[in-house]
Amino acid sequence: PTLKEAFKSKFTIGTALNSHQIYGHDSLATQLIKREFNTVTPENVMKSVNIHPGVNTYNFDAADKYVQFGQDNDMFIVGHTLVWHSQLSNFFNEIEDKDSLKLALKKHVVTVAGRYAGKINGWDVVNEALNEDGSLRNSLFLNKLGDDYLVDAFNWAKQAAPQTELYYNDYNLCAPSKREGAIKLIKFLQENNCKVDGIGMQGHWGLETPTLEEIEKSIIAYSELGIKVMITELDITVLPNPWDLEGADVNQNFEQDPKMNPYPNGMPDSVVTKFNKRYKDIFELFLKHQDKIGRVTFWGVQDGDSWLNNWPIEGRTNYPLLFDRDYKQKPAYKEVIQVA
Ligand code: XIL
Repeated sequence: PTLKEAFKSKFTIGTALNSHQIYGHDSLATQLIKREFNTVTPENVMKSVNIHPGVNTYNFDAADKYVQFGQDNDMFIVGHTLVWHSQLSNFFNEIEDKDSLKLALKKHVVTVAGRYAGKINGWDVVNEALNEDGSLRNSLFLNKLGDDYLVDAFNWAKQAAPQTELYYNDYNLCAPSKREGAIKLIKFLQENNCKVDGIGMQGHWGLETPTLEEIEKSIIAYSELGIKVMITELDITVLPNPWDLEGADVNQNFEQDPKMNPYPNGMPDSVVTKFNKRYKDIFELFLKHQDKIGRVTFWGVQDGDSWLNNWPIEGRTNYPLLFDRDYKQKPAYKEVIQVA
């Protein structure tokens, strides 16, 4: 079986699409995506900077094609993302007063969500609104609009696309303090009568962290709020994080440091073994909680596409996904399929 077939009765399995795949410039990817996945997320084309670059300028071309691709292939289509402080169209920063900013944000949400109403199946309405300590991130939106912006965003999305599932999405949602913050945030939305259908736990994880225990606790805790849990943006980095290095200097030129790019020509066997086990373990955990998990989405198709080759340092060679640079199934793919 392929991935989507193997997990068919459990949860959907997805990938993120970027422009080259959306425009059909990568035929090997197209074949692979159709074969393996039954849900898609746009990696970049629906972010405000791309879809709504100027106050009265919209760029729907790539987003429309993305939705068409999903429809043509009977996929569950995710929208990503309506309200986010990053990759934010610059005109938002230039709006001085509160009421105009609120109106501009409303117009953005209603226009974008409204255009795809009945087509997009689930939206990441708000992305990354939390700090690591669980407090609300001091974004432009929080600063100018207060925490009302969260309630408003969900209400506007519901008005514009009443049939669409609405999600809160964030990273590091397994860390205890941030988990507490996310629970508080979801409860706040629920108390304000927002429609919140699910939480997306971005799975930008490492070989060892977060621990399986932390992931499990989080899945259970979020599910207890009465919402679907989704693993979004799954990728397992095998490279060192510069910020974890003892005495790391933020001004240091990490790009030049070979220690930061240890496997330019392939992962050594010892790392492959760890990587395979990590994927096996997390999928076993997802299966154990299949009643709570609606979707598992990888952040990219094959290793060569992954943003982790360029983040947080540019120009590295990372191996975070289940398909290699030749679009071949990696050994971890078989581990995952066998778990199902
Ligand atoms: C990343 C994309 O993968 C990159 O191509 C882009 O340059 C930056 O954004 N959290 C999110 C995603 O919600 O939208 C981010 O995607 C990764 C972190």
